[in-house]
Amino acid sequence: MQECTFAIIEASKRTIPDYTNPMKTQSLPAEYFKRADESADENFYSTPRKVVHIDEGAIAAASQLYGELLPPGGHILDLMSSWRSHLPESYKPGKVSAQGMNAAEMADNPQLDEYIVQNLNKNPVLPFAEKTFDGLICTVSVQYLTDPVTVFKDVYRVLKPNAPAIFTFSNRCFPTKAVAVWQNVSMAEKAQLVALYLKEAGFANIKAEDRSPKAKRGLFGGGGDPLIGVWGYRPAVEG
Ligand SMILES: C[S@@+](CC[C@H](N)C(=O)[O-])C[C@H]1O[C@@H](n2cnc3c(N)ncnc32)[C@H](O)[C@@H]1O
Repeated sequence: MQECTFAIIEASKRTIPDYTNPMKTQSLPAEYFKRADESADENFYSTPRKVVHIDEGAIAAASQLYGELLPPGGHILDLMSSWRSHLPESYKPGKVSAQGMNAAEMADNPQLDEYIVQNLNKNPVLPFAEKTFDGLICTVSVQYLTDPVTVFKDVYRVLKPNAPAIFTFSNRCFPTKAVAVWQNVSMAEKAQLVALYLKEAGFANIKAEDRSPKAKRGLFGGGGDPLIGVWGYRPAVEG
């Protein structure tokens, strides 16, 4: 994957609201969620890519975060999955289900018990009952969603109360498939954007942390890939 530097939006339109702000993503311009390549995602993902998309340090940071936040023995959904889920060895899930775009990739993922192929930009409704999962992870992929809040609302539906939805990302992407806004904002603004998606979908206790490996911090030009985690919980009591 390349670094996200592809410019579509003019600088004057780059404002991302703080997620504590009453502004809604619906008020963001539609062009923020356009991609350079609007052809069918099925074509782009038809060939298996059995590669990792971030470096070892960033993967370890994502794994560490998942191990800290996921409940032991839980039924986990790996959203936008591929051939690796990056769950730490020390974490023992009850079951891991996955959604992705390529069956061959997920068939070769040793941490999955089951998987489905589904284009969330075409069909955002997951084929799972309400309150099925104890936790959700989504690694370096949220930037490919063209209607993220609708997907996040369905993620909320399938999570149990108190279950975390954890999104991690770096500064790399497939530039033609990442939404325009993602490619035109800072890492901090990306975190605000994901937090805003969570907030609008109804999640609570939203947190964002820079988990970039300290030894070679990547955010400001260091050697390694940065790793940011943003997460929230389906509240126990819904307001
Ligand atoms: C960069 S890969 C990351 C895969 C995996 N999460 C990982 O950490 O290696 C991006 C993933 O996003 C998912 N994806 C991209 N576009 C999608 C779409 N329209 N609907 C559902 N999933 C999509 C695919 O599963 C693809 O493997």
